[in-house]
Amino acid sequence: MKKAPHVTVKKVSRESGEWRTRFEAFYSDCEIRRVDKLPHAYFAAYSGDEIAGHSVVYFEKGRWVMDGLRVKPEFRERGIAKALTEARIRHALEQGAKEVWYACEDGNLVTICCHLRYGFEKVCPHEHCNAATAHWYRLKITPQLFEKFPALKPGRAAGHSTP
Ligand SMILES: CC(C)(COP(=O)(O)OP(=O)(O)OC[C@H]1O[C@@H](n2cnc3c(N)ncnc32)[C@H](O)[C@@H]1OP(=O)(O)O)[C@@H](O)C(=O)NCCC(=O)NCCS
Repeated sequence: MKKAPHVTVKKVSRESGEWRTRFEAFYSDCEIRRVDKLPHAYFAAYSGDEIAGHSVVYFEKGRWVMDGLRVKPEFRERGIAKALTEARIRHALEQGAKEVWYACEDGNLVTICCHLRYGFEKVCPHEHCNAATAHWYRLKITPQLFEKFPALKPGRAAGHSTP
């Protein structure tokens, strides 16, 4: 049987023209908010040179917000989304975040895989939620979080998926 290639999650260290072209292609069929003018960090999962997954965390109005989580279909269900989410939470913590936020629709798989498991809770004051479409979720950083998910501790290396 052919072994699945190893996938490594890394912060995008240089937002070069070449990376930008690949970024545009990766999200070509969906809406992704441009956050380049805000403090932010992109995290990508690489299988060799190929981008297998991509995501961003950005800082706006006093909040660290995760967005743009996407894994290519052929790389799904191997823990890549989890690794990208943990890398983004660690990044926010390293920048001093006491909370991390995320917005998405009810029932979206992203919610199941990447919010609820870590303890994100829905927060829906009307100035944040746009009616029936998307809802905000907040993760409060507590000592218990690190007990349950030691990989979230700041300073840990970005994870990789298990093949
Ligand atoms: C949601 C998504 C990011 C998950 O990526 P992934 O790498 O497959 O997720 P992971 O392997 O890290 O799985 C995380 C958890 O979600 C669960 N999960 C993943 N895919 C699942 C599926 N199809 N059904 C049920 N649960 C699923 C896993 O069971 C896992 O939990 P567990 O470890 O406790 O079992 C991926 O399916 C995706 O990219 N979907 C499209 C999103 C998209 O295009 N958004 C638009 C952005 S612009």
